[in-house]
This record gives sequence, C-alpha cells and structure tokens, in this order.
Amino acid sequence: MSLIVNGNTVAGPLDPRVSLLDHLRETLHLTGTKKGCNQGACGACTVLVDGTRILSCLALAVQYDGRAITTIEGLAEAGTLHPLQAAFIEHDGFQCGYCTPGQICSAIGMAAEARRGVPSHVSDDLTATVTLTREEVQERMSGNLCRCGAYNGIVDAIRATVAAEPAA
Ligand code: FES
Ligand code: FES
Repeated sequence: MSLIVNGNTVAGPLDPRVSLLDHLRETLHLTGTKKGCNQGACGACTVLVDGTRILSCLALAVQYDGRAITTIEGLAEAGTLHPLQAAFIEHDGFQCGYCTPGQICSAIGMAAEARRGVPSHVSDDLTATVTLTREEVQERMSGNLCRCGAYNGIVDAIRATVAAEPAA
C-alpha cells in the first residue's frame, strides 16, 4: 500500500497496527503533527485526508491506501505560509505552539465543512447556509484543545481567513 502525503507518494507501514500519526512522525519524520493524548481527546494530531479533518491518532495508516493526506508541512507553498498560518502569527493564535498544527489543519477542514452546509450544535437553522460566527467557530473547533489558552487569537485568525471564504 502507499499514501500520498503532501503530494508525495510514500510507502505505508509494514505493520498494519501502526497509527497514521505514528507513521507520519516515526517513519516519515513529519513531526509537525503532534501527539497529545493519543486517544482522540485533544485534536493535536489533526490532519486532512482528501480535505476532511481526521484525528490521526485514532486512524490506522493502512486505512488510507492511495488517499491524499495533508499535514502542516504541506500547507505552505514555495516558502510562503498558508494565509491561516500567517494569521496565527498576526493574531497571537499560539504560545507554545504544540496544539497549533492541529488547530490549523482542523480549521481548514472545519471551514470546508461549513461551506458544504454541515450544521453544528449551535446552528439555529439546520438547512441554512452556514455563517461562521464567533460562536460557530468556537463550537466547531471545540475538539482542538489549547493548554496555553490562546483561544481568542485562534478564533480571530480563523475568522480573518478560512472562515471568511465564500460558500462554494
Ligand atoms: Fe490525537 Fe489527542 S493525539 S486527539
Ligand atoms: Fe500551547 Fe496551544 S499554544 S497548547
């Protein structure tokens, strides 16, 4: 089996029990994706698979044969930060930075979900076009914890960039 990670085709693990997170970090040495809880509770390990956010600690690498995986290392283009990465700097969206790769990947996936019209727990109208208000962003990003408490800056950065993109 093989995976397409940040545009590069790479081999999957020999051991089918290896998580996607461990394969990214330990074998491919893409250590931007972080291991926090390793049990699906913190969001630090969030990556994108075909544009959808997943928790890589809860995923087996072998599940993703032939799928396109994007990690934080794959977001900058030609040395230029992704707009959301730049916004995290501008809006003080991090302190230690440990949660940041997961926050950024999660926010990109979250914004795509909103553009597809996926409602959240705080959406009043389940069929309406989603507007990513502060409350909506907070709710939709609630699976990504930040021990430094940089939440206000994180939400500001998201609302200034990916949350402001028009619906498709
Ligand atoms: Fe995956 Fe915490 S390390 S959710
Ligand atoms: Fe330190 Fe979020 S910036 S955990």
